[in-house]
Amino acid sequence: MRNHNKRSIISLPILFFCIIANCQDLNHSFKPGQIWPDTQGKHINAHGGGIIYFNDTYYWFGEYRLTRLEKDKSRYGVSCYSSKDLLNWKNEGLALKVINDTASILNPGCVIERPKVIYNKKTGKFVMWFHHELKGQGYKAALTGVAVSNNITGPYKYIRSLRPNAGVWPLNFPEEYKKATVKDSDLKNGSDEWKLAVREGLFIRRDFEGGQMARDMTIFVDKDGKAYHVHAAEENMTLHFSELTDDYLDFTGRYIRVLPGESNEAPAIFFSKGRYFMFTSGTTGWKPNAARLAVANKIFGEWKSVGNPCRGTEDENKIAFGSQSTQILPVNGKKNAFIYMGDRWIPENLADSRHIWLPVEWENGNPVIKWYPNWNLSKLK
Ligand code: DGJ
Repeated sequence: MRNHNKRSIISLPILFFCIIANCQDLNHSFKPGQIWPDTQGKHINAHGGGIIYFNDTYYWFGEYRLTRLEKDKSRYGVSCYSSKDLLNWKNEGLALKVINDTASILNPGCVIERPKVIYNKKTGKFVMWFHHELKGQGYKAALTGVAVSNNITGPYKYIRSLRPNAGVWPLNFPEEYKKATVKDSDLKNGSDEWKLAVREGLFIRRDFEGGQMARDMTIFVDKDGKAYHVHAAEENMTLHFSELTDDYLDFTGRYIRVLPGESNEAPAIFFSKGRYFMFTSGTTGWKPNAARLAVANKIFGEWKSVGNPCRGTEDENKIAFGSQSTQILPVNGKKNAFIYMGDRWIPENLADSRHIWLPVEWENGNPVIKWYPNWNLSKLK
């Protein structure tokens, strides 16, 4: 009798804790900029992320940033969350982890950013690409990494990191640019001459042998199943659209330069009503700047800038509502319904960075975004 009493006294607080933990309120609306609790009540730690829809479920992959309490760098990598309704997300753990071995370039201390996962119908495998920087080298390496898995939630097996398109010229690169000899060191950085030389392929030539730089990136899978790796190249001055091989694990060597010399990053591409749209940002580190929209009729076509897609106050438009694009997500079951996914970075504590999700609306055939502090999918017709 005594023993029994003792047990129930000890278990009461535990019971109470369990009830609290299991009775987390469901999320009923998107609240951009606020803490977004997962099904265990913890802020979703998946930044610079991307979502794929597979077998009636959304899977969100993103940068798992160590929280202030976490000192163990071997816990760093790419997180995965799953959801049926886009509001309530279950933590599926780390899909890709750094490799605890100094011989590996994916070792603790390296940087993994903007991971994107796509499914290859031919091989039945899930392929993850991510921006990879080497330990202690800042953003100098500018590599793209690839990993693969038979299961969507992982674990993903790291294959390699590389600089794409070594030894090949872009498809839209004029002959005279290939022959030019002017170098970065000949010109004053930022001068008009330098800007012209950059547009005319200064860095393409510099990186020709070793491969082109790949920093901020996304992956876009077109209607015909062809996938494109879109990355900030040429010292972040120009975007490259690089075609992937049929198994999505390598580059074919076919690539184009997009918006040369215009300094875009954070690319997010989608297709709607016969046209391709791309959201990007300027390059101001972790600080937000104005979003930009570009449009094309073909993925390898002529991309045209059409201005700032934000429709807020002047101050809000200057900083994209305090966000930087990461993906434009098609909503399953609705036609032409998309969500703008952005990050509001908190560099002092990246794990706490906020998710800025807003409905994509339309104005004269182009997508625009407005601020809604609290909204749900009924907003998307
Ligand atoms: C802006 C990029 O979009 C982010 O992914 C990150 O690389 C920061 N720069 C680092 O300053």
